[in-house]
Amino acid sequence: RLYNLPTVDINSIMTIAERDDLPFPVKRVYWITSNHEDEIRGEHAHKSCQQLLVCLHGELNIQLEDNHGNKSSFCLKHPNEMVLIPSQYWCKIAYKKDAIVLVMASHEYDPEDYIRVYDEFKSQELKYHLG
Ligand code: TYD
Repeated sequence: RLYNLPTVDINSIMTIAERDDLPFPVKRVYWITSNHEDEIRGEHAHKSCQQLLVCLHGELNIQLEDNHGNKSSFCLKHPNEMVLIPSQYWCKIAYKKDAIVLVMASHEYDPEDYIRVYDEFKSQELKYHLG
């Protein structure tokens, strides 16, 4: 799901996400500054954690796949766009143009929440799938 957040033009552009704009209570925030022109990150699924991504600079291509093989991809390049990465989807993210990405997560960091092996992801009975 893609959200368009409200902005205020103050010569610079301010983008605002209030608690009611967010689909879950945020427990962790982190950000990634990519040092490369093109970089692939992610390539894992989360069992429970949901994440919201905002591309503050540059560009992101996000590819989601459910464990039935259905795929959906989209591009994030405006700082007022926020995308929900649900749990239980394989997620691959291509960072472009020195992307800077802000991530808001529904859970604290837990390495046990990751499914990092694609075949393991494919073989699981996961409850969500892309329509
Ligand atoms: P990872 O989630 O695999 O990054 P990405 O999805 O961008 O490819 O995390 C990369 C490394 O950072 C991994 O060793 C775990 C560590 N990490 C933390 O220690 N805390 C965190 O909150 C996150 C997101 C990652």
